[in-house]
Amino acid sequence: MKAVLMAGGSGSRLYPITHAVNKHLLPIYNKPMIYYSLSIPMLAGIREILVISDDESLKAYRKLLSDGSQWGMRIEYAAQNEPRGIAQGLLIAEEFLDGDSVCLVLGDNVLFGHDLSAHLKHAREIVESDGGAVVFGYYVNDPERYGVVEFDDAGKPVRIIEKPKTPPSNYAVIGVYFYDADAVNIAKQIKPSWRNELEITDVNNEYMARKKLNVIKLGRGFAWLDTGTYDSLLEAGMFVKTVEDRMGLMISAPEEIAYREGFITYQEFQNLVDGMKDTKYKRYMRNVK
Ligand code: DAU
Repeated sequence: MKAVLMAGGSGSRLYPITHAVNKHLLPIYNKPMIYYSLSIPMLAGIREILVISDDESLKAYRKLLSDGSQWGMRIEYAAQNEPRGIAQGLLIAEEFLDGDSVCLVLGDNVLFGHDLSAHLKHAREIVESDGGAVVFGYYVNDPERYGVVEFDDAGKPVRIIEKPKTPPSNYAVIGVYFYDADAVNIAKQIKPSWRNELEITDVNNEYMARKKLNVIKLGRGFAWLDTGTYDSLLEAGMFVKTVEDRMGLMISAPEEIAYREGFITYQEFQNLVDGMKDTKYKRYMRNVK
């Protein structure tokens, strides 16, 4: 399985912060936002990732993430100069995926919780062994802002509705999707929505119609954070600081994940740390065993 990381979009809700800087480069406490979403496929054990953004921002991403080899990965880049929807990412990624299954991640999603890596690996395994798709539902108090899962009386998911005025449940679909190789062809068949975007929800509903969509509910042991507004961006930063200070462990540091996932050896990890600027980040890494 490979991963596709969506780091484009207009960032309009964060204007003027995003007027000259791509949203996913903004800080969430001590790391650029993209570190958090990049960590998601890494925690699923995925080492080949395509980062999608506009040409201008890709220059910054290349500087930040390089070719991934420093973390034992392969990171490639592709342009989406007009944000025509998340599902367009699957079309842009067709050549990179080359018939492989995919973990599609939205660059503004922050996920933290107990056994997260095991949950992500489980989703990956379902898709790799049985095909189909896996999405995650997360209970929120403002579901109308997201894709929302409708369940039947027996609790079985029947459809996903994008930004419903009257949400059929409180379960929002988070921006982490696992798909088999059919996803690209499905994305080719869907039509732009009222907001002129190829909706990822339409891809998910096609898997649902084929009875191939697994919806896994994430319970209270998880935090799925929003970073799309001034307030939620600040709150996400405060959340990360609170948890990191309390536990003395870092959330979503790619160097540490690369080492713990076995992408790089301890010696390679140490070499990376040696090359870091002298900050609290480096001092933390010094103590990783
Ligand atoms: O965050 C989860 C939600 O993400 C889901 O519940 C929704 O079903 C899904 O449609 C999406 O909601 P939004 O439409 O509000 O997402 P937004 O436009 O904010 O974009 C999400 C991320 O994807 C953001 O990091 C920017 C990136 N993006 C978005 C679009 C539309 C791109 O890279 N390219 C795009 O064309």
